[in-house]
Amino acid sequence: MKLLVTGGLGYIGSHTVKALYDHHHTAVIVDDLSNAKESVHHTLETLVNDTIPFYQADAKDIDAMRALFENYHFDGVLHFAGHKAVGESVSRPMMYYHNNLNSTLTLAQLCVEHRVSKFIFSSSATVYGDQPSPLHEGLELKKTTNPYGETKAISERMLTDIQRAHPSLSVALLRYFNPIGADESGLLGEDPQGIPNNLMPFITNVASQRIPQLNVYGDDYETPDGTGVRDYIHVSDLARGHVLALEKITEGVHIYNLGTGQGTSVFQMIEAFERVNQVSVPYRVVPRRPGDVAITYAAVEHARDQLGFQTEKSIDDMVKDSWRFTCNQKGTPSS
Ligand code: UFG
Repeated sequence: MKLLVTGGLGYIGSHTVKALYDHHHTAVIVDDLSNAKESVHHTLETLVNDTIPFYQADAKDIDAMRALFENYHFDGVLHFAGHKAVGESVSRPMMYYHNNLNSTLTLAQLCVEHRVSKFIFSSSATVYGDQPSPLHEGLELKKTTNPYGETKAISERMLTDIQRAHPSLSVALLRYFNPIGADESGLLGEDPQGIPNNLMPFITNVASQRIPQLNVYGDDYETPDGTGVRDYIHVSDLARGHVLALEKITEGVHIYNLGTGQGTSVFQMIEAFERVNQVSVPYRVVPRRPGDVAITYAAVEHARDQLGFQTEKSIDDMVKDSWRFTCNQKGTPSS
């Protein structure tokens, strides 16, 4: 299949482009480079040993996107482009609603206009709100705790309504849990601009001595060691989930969790990172971060039964691959 991949130079988008080529599909990448580096394009072409068309453009720019739909006859769209920093979304809600909703709407409109039937949307476990785990796809959604989460929940509802009005569309809403890790080549990985938001980029920054210590947000949760528990999934497993969704979905709206079903605490993650990589991650415990919940992990049966999706990589693989990528970046001391 020939796919339009928005945000294709970003963390999850780039790994998915690689997975698409591994499975004999081709991609046209759109990325506005707001949170990605152009050099990732060259890296991807080297890794897949092919040329990949790349356009620096904004996914909500309907004229620019329409030109692409007219030039290429896409079989589907994978829409990764979007702002994703929870804290920033609280201080800049208009930017989040404007960007994340208009890009989804623009692409859905063009799919309908050009009879492109497959739409794969990057959603998030955040749409479940604060509900007990395991989180399964049939749960009624609760209000999310921040504008970023709302953009994901609203996008899901928009796509569901659009599909209902245009029944030939096949829509996959993929609810990601916590993606970490990096491509095994060590050449693709998470390289956020500015101060990281998530646990793993903080850990790699501390391990490489760019940040003196990790803040552990609370050790008084009702969890085995008191720290927050999340369902971390290797980004290459996550990327493969997109390919399976693309290949398997039929007309309708299909919701899949992409997680492992296993919980890992912050302390367990630090222990694994230090043990596997033989590098130290100094930390201090600070008060809980507002909005955090104690435990989140996925119910994985639906994606397993419907897509045949099973994760292959362990936490040890994830921490090893995250650190390999960090060490390959210029100026980072290797372990
Ligand atoms: N944590 C720390 N210190 C840090 C960063 C995180 O202790 O410096 C802890 C958090 O308290 C939490 C765990 O590490 O217990 C994971 O935190 P992340 O920020 O990595 O991930 P979250 O689960 O909070 O957020 C992720 C995605 C969001 C998504 C959310 C809900 O990053 O996009 O899951 O699904 F909205």
